Amino acid sequence: MAILKLINEDKTLADRHAIAEYLETLDIRYEQWTPEHPVEPRASAEDVLEAYAGEIEKLKALGGYVTADVIDVNAQTPGLDAMLAKFNREHWHDEDEVRFIIHGRGLFHVRPKEGPVISIEVEAGDLMLLPKGTWHWFDLCADREIRAIRLFQNPSGWAPYYTESGVDKTFQPICFGPLHIPGQV
Ligand SMILES: [Fe+2]
Repeated sequence: MAILKLINEDKTLADRHAIAEYLETLDIRYEQWTPEHPVEPRASAEDVLEAYAGEIEKLKALGGYVTADVIDVNAQTPGLDAMLAKFNREHWHDEDEVRFIIHGRGLFHVRPKEGPVISIEVEAGDLMLLPKGTWHWFDLCADREIRAIRLFQNPSGWAPYYTESGVDKTFQPICFGPLHIPGQV
């Protein structure tokens, strides 16, 4: 389950309802999904999409999303650092950013137009929906692994626009939860 921190206010939320409620005040949707039938985190993309088809269709109807895919990123992914460098600086999109985490973890930072920057560590079972225009940045955790369903309104229009505010550099890209190194218990 996600952990939400307000670093500069020394406040942590680890309850799903409290997290959803806080994020709702920023127009960010947070949900936890359970599959319609058991599915392995490393099952084929087709099987994963099928297991969550009900939730995906609900969200598509709500937000006008037209496609869903599964993205896989891990330490062995060619060009990983270049890929991460695109997203770990503060940016926004003219599309919603919708991610449902199937496996692994990641750290979103969001800078609301008013109020403190929030840090949200997400893991398997977490859905995050950042509306278009939301200032945010994203890092992987130390295990550098994430698998997620993405939904798009128009995949060809999804590009990062950088704010160049420099705020991202004042936050540590370090996850909060216990470290899981693949292959280690
Ligand atoms: Fe983004």
